[in-house]
Amino acid sequence: MIRRNRILRTSPAIRAMVAETILTPADFIAPLFVVEGKGVKEEISSMPGYFRYSLDGTVQEAKELWAMGIRSVLLFIKCADELKDNKGTEAVNPDGLMQRAIKAVKEAVPGMVVMTDVALDPYSSYGHDGIVENEEIVNDATVEVLARMSLSHAEAGADFVAPSDMMDGRILAIRDILEENNFTKTGIMAYSAKYASCFYGPFRDALDSAPGFGDKKTYQMDYANAREALRETLMDVDEGADIVMVKPAMAYLDIIRLIKDSVTVPVSAYHVSGEYAMIKAAAKMGWINEEKAIIESLTSIKRAGADLIATYFAKDAVRLLNQ
Ligand code: PBG
Repeated sequence: MIRRNRILRTSPAIRAMVAETILTPADFIAPLFVVEGKGVKEEISSMPGYFRYSLDGTVQEAKELWAMGIRSVLLFIKCADELKDNKGTEAVNPDGLMQRAIKAVKEAVPGMVVMTDVALDPYSSYGHDGIVENEEIVNDATVEVLARMSLSHAEAGADFVAPSDMMDGRILAIRDILEENNFTKTGIMAYSAKYASCFYGPFRDALDSAPGFGDKKTYQMDYANAREALRETLMDVDEGADIVMVKPAMAYLDIIRLIKDSVTVPVSAYHVSGEYAMIKAAAKMGWINEEKAIIESLTSIKRAGADLIATYFAKDAVRLLNQ
């Protein structure tokens, strides 16, 4: 034999020397679910071990994440039913929960990179990401609100806005409104290749944001398609996206790789709620080793080409990496 490939696998030391992919805390973006109130910590039933926090707990979480070396949070809010409508009124409220959460986190942990989800679903009486007319999600009127929503997040101090709505033309509209208002340091992390996926189920429990009628297939992408992801992503880059995202992650590693090889901006991937729930459920049954599943999953996502990973396992992963 000329080459024995097993030589490079002989010991932990050799394997560490030749490892091509190494996770670090700064790879992770930690999603946080914010609710009104004080001292509130509610476990999400379909996401065991993950919680909704009121502002005080959110700030505490941000401090802990920062101390662990995690450098970014992605904020989501749970909007009270009485504030939901079909226009996104609460989404642009300068004193809304999201805007207050941004300020609270930035004030407590100024270095933290605060990213915000931009879409209407948590605010929508229909649970859709845009404005509904005649059972259709209308594009251009929605884009107009998303741009104002992004501006309001920037005004509150967000470092990045992260549009997750999949309307056409929203990245350009957001970039324009930020430029017009002199927010020249606010970034856009575009959910560029966001698929219509069943893996968002637990998230919709977390925010009580499941669509009231129909599904999201007229705006989120068909999972049968890969070239469409490239088209969406290249357009977002042209429209000014600073970071592009693929979502979900584990069933879409081919898409992550395709995008990584096709753009020069950083690529992020969202390891979504259903992917979290599957690992939790199988581990609870004793069918897989949770710790190993977490690290293997996140390493695979990075190996596929993700520069950043939004994951509910951010804290667990850092703890495991430090062991
Ligand atoms: C809102 C949004 C969703 C997720 C992130 N932003 C849900 C959806 O599009 O229905 C899903 C995140 C997850 O499942 O972890 N547009």
